[in-house]
Amino acid sequence: MKNIREFEGASPDIHNSVFVDESAIITGNVVIGQDSSVWPLVSIRGDIHHIRIGARTNIQDGSVLHVTHDSDYAPGGYGLTVGDDVTVGHSVVLHACTVENLCLIGMGSVVLDGAVVQSGAMVGAAGLVPPNKVIDGGYMWLGSPVKRVRELTEKEKGFLLYSAAQYVKLKNRHAGQEAVEPT
Ligand SMILES: CC(C)(COP(=O)(O)OP(=O)(O)OC[C@H]1O[C@@H](n2cnc3c(N)ncnc32)[C@H](O)[C@@H]1OP(=O)(O)O)[C@@H](O)C(=O)NCCC(=O)NCCS
Repeated sequence: MKNIREFEGASPDIHNSVFVDESAIITGNVVIGQDSSVWPLVSIRGDIHHIRIGARTNIQDGSVLHVTHDSDYAPGGYGLTVGDDVTVGHSVVLHACTVENLCLIGMGSVVLDGAVVQSGAMVGAAGLVPPNKVIDGGYMWLGSPVKRVRELTEKEKGFLLYSAAQYVKLKNRHAGQEAVEPT
């Protein structure tokens, strides 16, 4: 079965420069911009709402991205938007939320429905961002639920762009690799 799948007439629209590992599954109403990367065992399921991912964003191994459908419990439902130059660490859950440009979502974090991670925010490993919570850019957010612990240093702010750029280089290296047969 193919790993990039249509759902009820909607097919993923993935820029031809995006690296998608063969073990990742991308379904339905999903758009992914230039030079982004989707690493092993990621699921991006745009079946009951849309998912939009910008340019130079990396979705690391084992992450799960999903959305919420329109119902009396969630009128209009919630799509999922991830901006440009975002680093989504290993095993992150992004559920029907917004992550703006130049953020880092630490490995093992969970971002819930309607939450907004504003441009330039860093969520430390294992952070939990509750439903509808808006977290400011330029700060370090840690814990479950996340709390604003301090302003990011200039070095950390620089790291956000560095991390995204490194992943663009890394995906180009991976894209050039051939599959090997087990010996
Ligand atoms: C938060 C982080 C950036 C470290 O920041 P730091 O300011 O250097 O933190 P320190 O290691 O000096 O620790 C400061 C305090 O925060 C705590 N802390 C560190 N990381 C934490 C986290 N993710 N959640 C909760 N608390 C954390 C430490 O235990 C320490 O607590 P204490 O003062 O009570 O002893 C790092 O731990 C982290 O979570 N990085 C995310 C990396 C990642 O997931 N990258 C994704 C791409 S692979």
